[in-house]
Amino acid sequence: MSNLRGKHIVLGISGGIAAYKSVMLLRLLVKAGAEVQVVITPNGKEFITPVTLSALSGKPVVSEFFTANTGEWHSHVDLGLWADLMIIAPATASTIGKMANGIADNMLITTYLSAKEQVMVAPAMDLDMWRHPSTQRNIETLKRDGVIIVEPEAGELASGLVGKGRMEEPEGIVKAAEAYFAKTASLTGKRVMVTAGPTFENIDPVRFIGNYSSGKMGFAIAEEFASRGAEVLLIAGPVSMEVKGEGIKRINVVSAREMYEAAVSNFDGMDYVVLAAAVADYAPETVSESKIKREGTDEMVLKLVKNPDIAATLGSMKTTQKIIGFALETDHELENALHKLKKKNLDWIVLNSLRDPEAGFMKDTNKITIVSDTGMELEFPAKRKTEVAKDIADVVAGK
Ligand code: PMT
Repeated sequence: MSNLRGKHIVLGISGGIAAYKSVMLLRLLVKAGAEVQVVITPNGKEFITPVTLSALSGKPVVSEFFTANTGEWHSHVDLGLWADLMIIAPATASTIGKMANGIADNMLITTYLSAKEQVMVAPAMDLDMWRHPSTQRNIETLKRDGVIIVEPEAGELASGLVGKGRMEEPEGIVKAAEAYFAKTASLTGKRVMVTAGPTFENIDPVRFIGNYSSGKMGFAIAEEFASRGAEVLLIAGPVSMEVKGEGIKRINVVSAREMYEAAVSNFDGMDYVVLAAAVADYAPETVSESKIKREGTDEMVLKLVKNPDIAATLGSMKTTQKIIGFALETDHELENALHKLKKKNLDWIVLNSLRDPEAGFMKDTNKITIVSDTGMELEFPAKRKTEVAKDIADVVAGK
């Protein structure tokens, strides 16, 4: 039985000759048990009639923002929330360009911009349009935004030219959709612990030693593992972020000591542990109960003591757990990361360097190299942290 059964799919159709294949795609999706809502652009309707599409989907086709004679408003937001997956096939060069740049001048693009779930795009165009630097730039932007691209095939095109640009066959697009849903369930039954954010080490009731971690990287990892069906425990330092998605239990901590205790007491029974938090290595030896005053002294010496190393402790406790540490470096990056991997008895280490302008604290992007305890090194280009989280999950837990 197909895993598309019962899934809500928005099928977006834009104006290209390959729109004729969308009829078969719709037929196959419905046959597999999916509920499909078609959204078509005004140009799409020049190639294929809404009557055919509504007859096959069993739902009125949405094309305009509202129905002219009744004034009924079609909510792209509701559609975006309803969908488990949005497939845009065919996606013309124009639709791809609008998606990449957020030009919301038709119902299909507004639905795309409101889509909460995965979006998949099957481009179709002439080979010169496909090869054009602007199309390729837009495709790269969509990839960075997390859109799955079902690559066009090479072959004879409607223009008579031969080359890459033919939309993937409907069967291939259905397979890609099934592969996507298979991945969302691939970690069902697994338990994952993730640490995220900074730790704050109090000096007095108003001051602390901290760092710039926003939690973005760790939260993206927690959400990615949960989206694959895992039961996730997120141990979060003091950050203002909210975690999205189901299947995530959150424990809020402030100091490294609190993070250590939460991590150690929950370690047993975990399958994967990802340590993305930026943990303070030192904390003040004593915490003043009242606010330290500036009067009366020109100098102040703070005595710091070493915090427990969470990663090393878990590394010494591990039985079947796989532990993935991070290394945030400023120099001798690989050498330092390898040293941490061995010293802390980790299975993988994710290296990010503050020398990379697209990596590190607070940014929406990161640039990582994943190193395994067997010496395998995988270097990735700069991507959004949500995409980096997918690469980490793919490598450590399998695609
Ligand atoms: O939160 P963001 O703004 O998105 O930024 C993400 C990030 C830069 C914080 C993240 O990508 C990252 O690199 N996290 C680890 C930062 C760090 O503290 O690295 P480290 O090289 O000092 O530590 C090595 C490993 O040991 C890390 O997995 C760390 O969590 C762990 N550690 C460190 C000290 C300690 N006392 N206990 C630990 O478990």
